[in-house]
Amino acid sequence: MREIELRRSIRKYKSKPVEMSIINSLIESARLAPSGSNTQPWHFIVITDDKIKNDVATVSHNQKWMLTAPVFIVCVADIASRIANSEDIELDETSPQFELKQIIRDTSIAIEHIVLNAITFDLGTCWVAWFTQKEIRSVLGIPGNKFVVSILTVGYPDENPNPRRRKDLKEIIHINKW
Ligand SMILES: Cc1cc2nc3c(=O)[nH]c(=O)nc-3n(C[C@H](O)[C@H](O)[C@H](O)COP(=O)(O)O)c2cc1C
Repeated sequence: MREIELRRSIRKYKSKPVEMSIINSLIESARLAPSGSNTQPWHFIVITDDKIKNDVATVSHNQKWMLTAPVFIVCVADIASRIANSEDIELDETSPQFELKQIIRDTSIAIEHIVLNAITFDLGTCWVAWFTQKEIRSVLGIPGNKFVVSILTVGYPDENPNPRRRKDLKEIIHINKW
């Protein structure tokens, strides 16, 4: 698939804004993603406000390059999709719930739909997951029973990185048994 081969993590973007209709198409591709028992645990916070972007980049270990992207999409997994009355659950990196793994798994599928669909609009993206739940939650007012899986930076690329090395097929394929 062309999009899979062309995708790179982009860390330098043009200032050209991204039309909201395109952002909607990206989120639409996430909406159509598969999920265990069709639970659809995902939510997306679209950020274009400079002050909020700045706060998000700061809690992401001050990755300044992020600020070149006109849009951030903060991708959030909601455990309420799997646990009734989840309001009192406080999720973080050490949480033991098996359901947390399931909502992270499902939300990650939806996130990668966005990443691949972005290529069809000549947009670049980068996954960012170097933050703590506590800090990103407080910047964006996200309740404790949600888990921020990643931030996607989105914009028109202003760099053209070479493909990064991947393991050979023979290192990762197992036929019939491990
Ligand atoms: C879950 C996840 C978290 C990541 N977090 C960051 C990050 O915080 N900062 C960053 O610059 N890149 C981040 N990346 C991008 C990876 O470094 C990148 O995907 C990897 O080096 C391979 O390069 P490629 O995406 O261009 O093929 C992340 C990627 C993933 C999948």
